[in-house]
Amino acid sequence: MAIPWRPKGNFSVKPSHLFGAGPKHAVVNHAYRYLGVVSEEFRACPDRRLDFGNLRRRIEKGAGKGRVCVVSYNYPDTSALVLKGLEKHFDKPAVDGLDLTIRGGEFYALLGPNGAGKTTTLRIVAGLLRPDAGSVSVFGVDALADPIAAKRLIAWVPDEPLIYEKLTPFEYLEFVAGLWDIEAATAQTQATEIIDILGLGPHAHERCNGFSKGMRQKVALAGALVHSPRLLILDEPLTGLDAGSSRQVKTVLAERVRDGVTVIMTTHILEVAERMAERIGVIDAGRLIAEGTLDELRRQAGQTDTSLEDVFLDLVAEQSAAA
Ligand SMILES: Nc1ncnc2c1ncn2[C@@H]1O[C@H](COP(=O)(O)OP(=O)(O)OP(=O)(O)O)[C@@H](O)[C@H]1O
Ligand SMILES: [Mg+2]
Repeated sequence: MAIPWRPKGNFSVKPSHLFGAGPKHAVVNHAYRYLGVVSEEFRACPDRRLDFGNLRRRIEKGAGKGRVCVVSYNYPDTSALVLKGLEKHFDKPAVDGLDLTIRGGEFYALLGPNGAGKTTTLRIVAGLLRPDAGSVSVFGVDALADPIAAKRLIAWVPDEPLIYEKLTPFEYLEFVAGLWDIEAATAQTQATEIIDILGLGPHAHERCNGFSKGMRQKVALAGALVHSPRLLILDEPLTGLDAGSSRQVKTVLAERVRDGVTVIMTTHILEVAERMAERIGVIDAGRLIAEGTLDELRRQAGQTDTSLEDVFLDLVAEQSAAA
C-alpha cells in the first residue's frame, strides 16, 4: 500500500488531519490503518530508518506511549527497483542475467569495472534501451509494459548529460517542469530553490553553452529533481566535479534520501560509495557478484577493517579468476 503523499520533513498533526480530507489526512490515515493503533496525538517522526514493522514493534513495546509517530518516509514492503534476469547483448553480452533489488528509500551504489554493464543497466531502467530478456519493476510498476508510468517515478542523470545550450538554467528548469505539467508558479519556486542549493545562482540567467562540465552536470541534476522523482538514477554524477561542486551534489543527494527518495548511483570514486551508500552492489561482466553493506562485502571478501577499494579489487579479481 503506497502512501499517496510524502510531507517534507516533520509536520504536526492536527485533529483535522485525522478526520478531514487532503494529503496530510491521507498520510496520517495510512499510518493509522497500517499500524492499527488508535492514538490521540500524532507526531511526525524524522527517523527515516524506521519502517512500519519496526515502528509497530516499538509501539507494542510501549515506546512513544500516548502518541504515534507517523513515519511518512518509508514505503513499507515496496522495493524501489527490481530487476530480474535482465539481459542485453550488443556484439557480446553487456548485461547477462542481472538480478538486483533496491529497497525503497535507500542510497545504493552500483560499482563495477569499466565495461561491467552499469550504464547499460541504468539506461534500461530509465527506458532508453529495451532489454533482450528480463523484467524491470519500479515501485511495483512494470516498466517494460508501462514505461510512461515508470518514467513518472524516475529521474535519470546520464554520465554525459545533454542540456539545451541556448537555454539558461532557469529556463531549462521551467521547460522541464512544463514537460511534467507542473504549474508555472510552483515550477519557478522550485527552480529557484534547486538552483540556489546547487550553487548555480550566479549563472541562473546565463545561457548554458559556455558552461563547464561540472556546471552542466549540476544543471542536469537540477532538471532531474524538478518533478520530485521517487527514484533518482545517477550515472557517475561526481566525475569531473571540483571539491565544492561535489560537496553540493552530495549534500543534495543526502537531503533527498532523508526525504525518502531512493538513489541509485554508479561511481568509480569508492570513498563516496563507502561514505554515502547504505548498500553497495558490485557488478562484473553484466552480473551481480557481491552486494551488501561495506561490512557484509568485507566478510564476503574474507577481510576485516579494509577499505572499500581493497574489498572491491579483491571481489573483482576473485571473479576474474573464477571465470
Ligand atoms: N551502444 C552500444 N553498442 C555496442 N556495445 C555497447 C553499447 N553500449 C555499451 N556497449 C558495451 O557493453 C558493455 C558494457 O558497457 P557499459 O557502458 O554498460 O559499462 P559500464 O559498466 O558503464 O562501464 P564504465 O565504468 O566504463 O562506464 C561494454 O563492453 C560496452 O562496450
Ligand atoms: Mg558507464
